[in-house]
Amino acid sequence: DTRIKYGPLIGSIDEGTSSTRFLVFASKTAEVLTYHQLPIPSIVPKEGWFEQDPMMILEAVKETIDVTCDNLIKLNINYEDIVAIGITNQRETTILWDPTTGKPLYNAIVWMDVRTSSTVDDILENGKHPQDFLQCLCGLPVSTYFSALKIRWLMDNVQGVKEAIEQGRCLFGNVDTWLVWNLTGGVQGGLHITDVTNASRTMLMNIDTLKWDPNLCKVFNIPMNILPQIRSSSEIYGYIFDVTKLSGVPIAGILGDQQAALVGQMSFEMGQAKSTYGTGCFILYNTGTLTVRSTHGLLTTVAYQLGPDKKAVYALEGSVAIAGISIKWLRDNLNVLNDVSESAEMAQAANEHGEVYFVPAFSGLYAPYWRKDARSVICGLTEETKPGHLVKAALEAVCFQVRDVLEAMTLDCGHPLTKLLVDGGMTVNDYLMQMQADYCGIPVVRPMMAETTSLGAAIAAGNAKGVEVWDIESMEAVPCDTFVPVIKEDARDVKYSRWKMAIKRSLGWVE
Ligand code: G3P
Repeated sequence: DTRIKYGPLIGSIDEGTSSTRFLVFASKTAEVLTYHQLPIPSIVPKEGWFEQDPMMILEAVKETIDVTCDNLIKLNINYEDIVAIGITNQRETTILWDPTTGKPLYNAIVWMDVRTSSTVDDILENGKHPQDFLQCLCGLPVSTYFSALKIRWLMDNVQGVKEAIEQGRCLFGNVDTWLVWNLTGGVQGGLHITDVTNASRTMLMNIDTLKWDPNLCKVFNIPMNILPQIRSSSEIYGYIFDVTKLSGVPIAGILGDQQAALVGQMSFEMGQAKSTYGTGCFILYNTGTLTVRSTHGLLTTVAYQLGPDKKAVYALEGSVAIAGISIKWLRDNLNVLNDVSESAEMAQAANEHGEVYFVPAFSGLYAPYWRKDARSVICGLTEETKPGHLVKAALEAVCFQVRDVLEAMTLDCGHPLTKLLVDGGMTVNDYLMQMQADYCGIPVVRPMMAETTSLGAAIAAGNAKGVEVWDIESMEAVPCDTFVPVIKEDARDVKYSRWKMAIKRSLGWVE
């Protein structure tokens, strides 16, 4: 009987920037039994704009759930054994919709979109306020990245949004909120909620009280009645409505995707850190129940709150906007490679001559610089430069950006990390992982369990249902690959100082 073999099953909706997936975990063995994945197309109406269709996101999520249920049937597993569902999602991406029709009032504005550059200037009153003037309240610098700026832009620029707000028929949500509202009934009474981790990315939540902050809402002039109710990351929020095969199953966990990866990596101890390599790259450092305000360009964010009566745990985060997507850019825009899977081999084959540095600043530069005016640069080109050098430079850029963040973490926390836990799509690339260890000078540890983000959401959902299988002790036994630095310190420092020269050029572009 599969129920005995696998124990209760937990489903995990993992809605990322480039694709959405639904995975089913066996609680007894912590293995992924099956999953289905669909790409989410992006819409780029103008340079620097990045949108997605909220209806398409929703339909894709529903389809992945139903196809996964069919997969379970083929495996002779009863999908009714799924006892809870967790949601993990791309954060900050902003959706406004009309609850009377259920229709979005505009496309989702994706986190990396930089259209709000002038909104940032407005909020900073053209330099009157420093970029971190709201950090004491929300832990974040004013940046194009966060939801409040995107809501403000929609209110200022989309007639339908203005009217809907005036008429009291506008709701705001990040992708988690949009999905929960639709999956729990939509126009027929869907739940309008979010969790603390997602709320901590809006710039509207007070990072200490974990409540919407009237002062922050006032700065952005955002009406508080469009905001969802903030809940913990692990509790039974509601039940799936009659919209997928899993109707009646409780939604019991919500975590922003980077926070979910921290949970999935079992980084529950203060001082543990992980780096997730996806579209962007995000390093989170667990600071326990303390809210540490960075003085070196990191964000203060909620890491998780595993129950309404549990204390919130915080993290310092270094957000890097461009990681995996730069390899896709080399493929799609410059035709430098045919498939991202070729990147390791091409980079490895590039000879030592013609050292190239590539700063991918497509959304400006995030941590630790927070410069929306930064521009991408490729420097060091010679007649020797081949496609492989560009690919290598893009991979190295990921590693150097992680080092930038780790340097900031050392300055904020007073001591360097002794190892870096990694996960995410790009970590299958051994060459990249070795480079990461070499350029940061600390071991890089990659667990064999690759699905840490989805696992994190499943842990949160299981926890609310009393399904506790991924206990820390058993996960500590999970085998890992460890990449140990092999290059000499002076070689590491020479490369990093050249990267810093390239950064200088990227930051100085408009001067
Ligand atoms: O903050 C943006 C982040 O949540 C996106 O994650 O995995 O889609 O790059 P990812």
